[in-house]
Amino acid sequence: MAKKKGKPFDKYHYYALAVQSPDADAKFMRDTYKELRGKDPFLLREDFCAAFAISCAWTKLGGKYRAVGVDFDPEPIAYGRTHYVSQLTSSQASRLEILQKNVLDQDLPAVDIVCALNFSYFGFKKRNTLRQYFQSVFTSLKKDGVLILDCFGGSQCWEPNVDETEHEDENFSYFWDQDTFNPITHHAMFYIHFKRKGERKRERVFTYDWRMWTIPELRELLEEVGFRKSTVYWEGSDDDGEGDGVFTPSEEGEDCEAWVAYIVAEK
Ligand SMILES: C[S@@+](CC[C@H](N)C(=O)[O-])C[C@H]1O[C@@H](n2cnc3c(N)ncnc32)[C@H](O)[C@@H]1O
Repeated sequence: MAKKKGKPFDKYHYYALAVQSPDADAKFMRDTYKELRGKDPFLLREDFCAAFAISCAWTKLGGKYRAVGVDFDPEPIAYGRTHYVSQLTSSQASRLEILQKNVLDQDLPAVDIVCALNFSYFGFKKRNTLRQYFQSVFTSLKKDGVLILDCFGGSQCWEPNVDETEHEDENFSYFWDQDTFNPITHHAMFYIHFKRKGERKRERVFTYDWRMWTIPELRELLEEVGFRKSTVYWEGSDDDGEGDGVFTPSEEGEDCEAWVAYIVAEK
């Protein structure tokens, strides 16, 4: 008898479960802008948007919230159209625009917030290229606009390591594999692997060839291109010393093995 086949493996589905929190990201960005600017941000641009989950979440915040996603790869964009847009109401979908473009293009729309999340700008390995990106974001932001980035680091990132997270409720494991780290260039290779329960491990489903930028390097670059202020939002810890998911402005971070922080730059 033929072996019964499970659901086909869908890499974007497992990616979303393992690393994304689009609703929380959208709310954090809305609340942070409100706190800094004293008004609502209605227009978000999600750079490096891939399947644009955050843009979709943004349109769910209310009838005035509009999002533009930008990515140069047609594959995740097509996935987002099929799997995520189909879950929006027609009003939400009408407030969403996806551009298949390079984020370095100079003609991207003017918005209240630009976000570049899940460290995608780490793909810019040269200072000049990252500077060019920050410069064009600065130019395209509206008068009170802000750029929101995330960043990660910690002593664990200065050497190869593999981190496994078991998602028992969804029957799979997620592996964040840092394969290399070059202390001279700060270049590092990362892979995402997945293993569904009872199946072989799927290796290198996603690959990231990155430069590990540091917070001071990023803040200096942001200042150089004209941002008048940047604030680091550092994560608090719970009773066990683990991150508690609450990010607040800080100038002094705890020197932990692995951290994620947000940087918010104001025009
Ligand atoms: C780490 S993934 C996206 C992550 C997504 N922002 C998230 O929150 O999970 C990086 C994405 O950036 C896109 N990308 C990389 N360089 C780009 C560029 N210069 N212009 C536009 N898209 C780019 C890739 O096609 C890929 O979809």
